[in-house]
Amino acid sequence: MDSGFIQLSEAKIPVLDWGFLRSDATYDVVHVWKRHFFRLDKHIDRFFESTEKLRMPCELSRNELKKILAGCVDRSGLDNAYVEMIQTRGMSPNFERDPRKSKPRFIAFAVPFGWILKPEEFEKGLDVLVSNRRRISPDSIDSRIKNYHWLDLVSGMYEAYDYGHDTVILTDEEGNISEGPGFNIFCVDEGTLYSPNKGVLEGITRQTVLDLAKELNVPFQLNSISLEKLKNSNEVFATSTAGGIMPITRINGQSIEQGKPGEITRKLYKTYWEKHSDSSWSESIDDLLN
Ligand SMILES: Cc1ncc(COP(=O)(O)O)c(C=O)c1O
Repeated sequence: MDSGFIQLSEAKIPVLDWGFLRSDATYDVVHVWKRHFFRLDKHIDRFFESTEKLRMPCELSRNELKKILAGCVDRSGLDNAYVEMIQTRGMSPNFERDPRKSKPRFIAFAVPFGWILKPEEFEKGLDVLVSNRRRISPDSIDSRIKNYHWLDLVSGMYEAYDYGHDTVILTDEEGNISEGPGFNIFCVDEGTLYSPNKGVLEGITRQTVLDLAKELNVPFQLNSISLEKLKNSNEVFATSTAGGIMPITRINGQSIEQGKPGEITRKLYKTYWEKHSDSSWSESIDDLLN
C-alpha cells in the first residue's frame, strides 16, 4: 500500500476515499495453493479490464503487479492464501464531486485461504436458498466489472441464514438464476452443463470449469436458468476462487437427486485440483520473486 509493504493490521485508508464512501472501487482475488498462484494472468486481465472500464486504469505493469502480489504472499508466510488487489477511486483533493480530479489508490494483501465450502464438507454440499431478491441489474452496473456492490448479496445471506440455509442465490430481473455472494452457479442436465449467460460476474473459476469441460468432452451451454430447471437438474454446483467447485445438494429445502454430489461435479472437482500442479495453469511465487 502507498508503494510499500506494511503489516495488514496497519493498513488504513482515509474515510474520504471514494472506495469507502461510495464503493467506487474494483478488485480481484486470486488464490495461492502450495506457494503457486492459480491462473494469475486471467485474474490480472480481469483486474486491468475492470480498472479501464471504470476509467481509472491501473498504473502498474503486469510484472510489477505480479511481484507485488508475490511479495505479499512471501511476507505473509502462507503456503495457501487468498490474495486481493484493489483499486479505489481515491480522494477528492478539495471536496469536489468530480471523480476525474482524484488519484486512484492501489492496495494488495494476502490472508489465509478462505473456503465457501470446506473440502471435508464436500459430500454434504451446500444447502441454498434461492431468493426473490434481484441481483443488481447489469443495466446499472456492468456485472463483468468485479465490484463491491454487495448489499443485495448481504441482505440475501441474512434471509438464507434466518431460514437455516448455508447461503443464497439471487435471481435476475426475469426471476432466473443469477449468482451468489462470491460464486457462480452451474447445473447439469442429462450430461450437459449450464450456467447463466448474463448479469453475473464472469468468474475465473466459471471460465476454468468451461475450459475443463472442453478437455473432458462435457458439452456446455451458457443460457438463462429458471428456478424450476435448477431444482430439477441432476447436479448443481457453485464455483469460486474461495474454494473452487462446490456441490449444491439442497435448494429451498429440496434435495438435488439423492442429496449427494454428482459424477460430473466430482470429475470436474478432481481435475480442477490436479491442474493446481500443472505449470501451464499455475505460477510459482519463488519464480516471481527472483
Ligand atoms: C459476485 C461474484 N460472482 C462470482 C464470483 C466468482 O468469481 P471467481 O471464480 O473469479 O472467484 C465472485 C468472486 O468473488 C463474485 O464476487
